[in-house]
Amino acid sequence: MDLTENPTFANQRSSSDVVGKPMVRIDGRAKVMGAATYSAEYNQLPGLVHAVFKTSDVAKGRITGFDDSEAKRLPGVLGILTHLNMPPLAQTPATPEGKKKIALAMQMSFTPMLADQIFYAGQPVAIIIADTLEHAQHAAALLKVSIVAEQPVASYQDARAELFAPKDGAAAQVPAKRGYAQEAFSKAPVQLTLTCQHVTNHHNPMEPGATIAHWEAADRVTVYDTTQAIASTHKALYVMLGLPPDNVRVVNKYLGGGFGCKLTMWPHTVLTVQAAKFVGRPVKLVLTRPQMFTSMGHREDQEQTLRVGATKEGKLLALLHEKTSTTSPWDNYAEMNSKIVDMLYACPTFEASVKLARANVMTSTYMRGPGEAPGSFAMECAMDDLAYRVGLDPIAIRLLNHADKDPGTGKPWSSKSLKQCYERGADLFGWSKRNPKNGATRQGNNLVGWGMASGSYPVHDAQGTARIRLFADGHALVQAGATDLGTGTYTIITQVAADSLGIPPEKVHFELGDSALPTTAMSGGSRAAGTVSSSVFLAAQDVWQKLIKVAVTDQHSPVYKAKPADVEAVNGRLQLKTDSTKGEAFTTLMQRIGLDDVEGVATGHYGSSYESPKATLNTPNAKKDDAAGHSMHSFSAHFCEVQVDTDLGTVHVTRWVSVVAAGRILNSRTARSQVMGGSIFGIGAALMEGTVCDPHLARYTNASLADYHVCVNADIPEMIVAFIDEEDRYVNAMGVKGLGEVSIVGTSAAVSNAIFHAIRASFDLAAHNAGQGAESVG
Ligand code: MOS
Repeated sequence: MDLTENPTFANQRSSSDVVGKPMVRIDGRAKVMGAATYSAEYNQLPGLVHAVFKTSDVAKGRITGFDDSEAKRLPGVLGILTHLNMPPLAQTPATPEGKKKIALAMQMSFTPMLADQIFYAGQPVAIIIADTLEHAQHAAALLKVSIVAEQPVASYQDARAELFAPKDGAAAQVPAKRGYAQEAFSKAPVQLTLTCQHVTNHHNPMEPGATIAHWEAADRVTVYDTTQAIASTHKALYVMLGLPPDNVRVVNKYLGGGFGCKLTMWPHTVLTVQAAKFVGRPVKLVLTRPQMFTSMGHREDQEQTLRVGATKEGKLLALLHEKTSTTSPWDNYAEMNSKIVDMLYACPTFEASVKLARANVMTSTYMRGPGEAPGSFAMECAMDDLAYRVGLDPIAIRLLNHADKDPGTGKPWSSKSLKQCYERGADLFGWSKRNPKNGATRQGNNLVGWGMASGSYPVHDAQGTARIRLFADGHALVQAGATDLGTGTYTIITQVAADSLGIPPEKVHFELGDSALPTTAMSGGSRAAGTVSSSVFLAAQDVWQKLIKVAVTDQHSPVYKAKPADVEAVNGRLQLKTDSTKGEAFTTLMQRIGLDDVEGVATGHYGSSYESPKATLNTPNAKKDDAAGHSMHSFSAHFCEVQVDTDLGTVHVTRWVSVVAAGRILNSRTARSQVMGGSIFGIGAALMEGTVCDPHLARYTNASLADYHVCVNADIPEMIVAFIDEEDRYVNAMGVKGLGEVSIVGTSAAVSNAIFHAIRASFDLAAHNAGQGAESVG
C-alpha cells in the first residue's frame, strides 16, 4: 500500500483507548483452564505415537554397533531409527546449498544420526518409536549401543584446547576498532583491568522442546513445534526435506517460554519428522529435562577481560575488550559482548577481540540478551570500579560519560532516555541516601550494599506482514505468523488492532503461530512487538483507505463525493477532516451497501529499514532515510540492594528497582511482567544459575532443575518497575522499541555492584588491579 496517499491516518494512532493500558492477557484464561494447546498437546491426531531419544553418554567417539534384539521384541515398539536406516535428507545446514539457505535458521550446522561419529555427550544416537511413551522409554533402555570412546575436550579452559581467532561466523563479528586504544590505555592516568569468568548457562524454559510431526500425505507434513520463529523453522524444514514450501506447515499457538533456545531450529525437530515418515504415523517427541541441556543450545562458558583507561576525573579514554569462549566442533559462534562496550558510553578509543576453542559440546546460542547481558556485566562492573577509584558516585560517573550520540557509528539516537531512567530509578530507590563509603553499612550480621547499572539493547531490523479482515458486524480477524512466548503478543496486538480499527478489543480475534498466516518476524532479539504492532497498524490503514474509497462513491454516505484525502477514520467512524459531524460508523456504511468484509494487508518495518514515506505516519517532519540515519536502542537502569551474611557469605537481594525506556509501551501490565522476568534472570545469572561440566568427561553434572538453580519466589523481593514515556519518531509506525532483552541487560552487574558496595572495603585493590577476577557470574 502507498501510505503517501493519505498520511493523515496518523491521527488514528493517537486516539488510543486500549494501547498502553494494563489489559489482562487474553490467553490467560485458556492457560489456567488447561485449554491452551501447546506443541506437545495435539493428542487427538489419528494414530499418534511416541518417540524418545537414546543419547550418547560419552562426549567423543564412534558408534561401532547396535544390539536391538531385546528392545525390538518389546510390545508396542514400532521402529528404531539410527544413522543406519535414517531416511535421506535433501539438505542439511552443513551441505553447500543448505548452508546458503538455512544457516541462519539453524544455529548448529551438525545434524546427529546421519553418521557414526559422536561429538558431544547427550548426542542422539537412536530414536525409538512406540505406541506409548512408556514402551518407547523401556525400549530405549534396552537398546545397546557400542561406542569406542576417545578423550574429549570440555572447554576453552582445558589444557588441550586450542585457542583461535575466528575468521567467519557470528563470533568473528566484533565492532570496528576506533582510534588507538592500546596506546590511549597505556597513557591513561587511571587504568583498571577487570576479568570475569562466566560458566555455562542453560535457558530452561518451563516448557521443554517438543515436536509433533504429522505426514498428511507422502509429500505433505504439518509440524507442531516449540519455536519462537515460525518462518525460519518452516524454511529449515522444507529445505531439509526437499519439499515445496506449501507442503510444509509449522504451527505454534502457545509457548511456555523460550529465552532464545527456541529461536532457531534444532535437530530434534527434523529428526521427529523423519521418525514420523519412518513409521507412517504422527509422532510426538518431547525432550526430557536432562535432554534440554544437550539439545537446544546454551550460553557458552566464557571469560572477558576489560581494560579501562580514564582521566583522574573519571572520563573514559580507552576501552579494550577481550573475550575467550568455548564453541562446538563445527560452528564459530560466540555471543558478541563487545557491542555494548562499544556503544554504552562516550569513549574516544575502543578495540575488541575474540578467541574461541573447540570442545565436545553442542553449538551455543542466543540466550536472554545474548552479548549485551554478559557484555554489560563487564562494562558496568568496570564503571563502578572506576567510580570507586576516582571517588565518584556510580550515577555521577555514568552521567559524566553519557553518550549523546552512538560512539560506535557516530549517529544520533532515534530516542534515548537513559538519564531519565537514572533519575527516576534513583528517586524510586532512594539513592540519595546511599552511604558513599563502601563496606560501611550493617544490618545485624549482614553488610548492606546498594548498586546500580545501565542497560541497553539494540533495535534489530526486521519486517513482517499482517492481514486484517474487518466485518460489517463490527468484528475483525487479524492474522500474522508471529509467536507468543508467554510475554503477551496475543494481548498487545489485540490492543493495537482494536485502537487502529476503532473497535473494542473483545471484537478483535488475533490469530498467530502458523506458517499459513502472513510471514512476520521471529519472537527473538526483542523484534516481535515493534514489527507485528506496526504491520497490524498499517494493515488497518489499508482497510480504511479501501473503505473511504467506497464511502466517497456511495450516494447515501455523509462523505459522498469528498476527496479520499479529505476523509479520515476516527474511532471507526469515516468522517470529513474539516467537519467531523459529516460521517458515519464503518458498520453503517458496510451494512447499507451490503459489503460483508474488507481486507487490509501491510508490511511493517522495524528499525533502520523503516523509512519515509511511512515515517510520515509517525512524524510530519521525518525525511526519507531518516530512520537509517539513526542508532536505535532501548535503555534501562537497574537498582539493587543486597544483604551479605558476613559469616556465611550468602547474598540476598532485598530491594529492586528497574526503569526502562523502550518507546511506546503497548501494555503496562505485560511490560512490567517482562521487566520483572528480565531482572530475575539477571539475579539468577549473578547468584545462582550455572551448568557444571565435568572437565574429564565433558558431561554436564547438574542437568536437572533440582541441581541447576533458577530463582524462586523466596529469592526475589518486591520489585518496582517504571517506564519512561518516549516518542520514537524513527523506529516504526507505532514508535515501539524492544522491551524483552533490555530488561535483563545490566541486571547482573547491578547485583554485583551492590555486593561491591557492601563488602568492597575488605578487598585488596592491588590484586584486583592485576586482573584476579574479583567478580564472576554463576
Ligand atoms: Mo532471544 S535470546 O533473542 O529469544
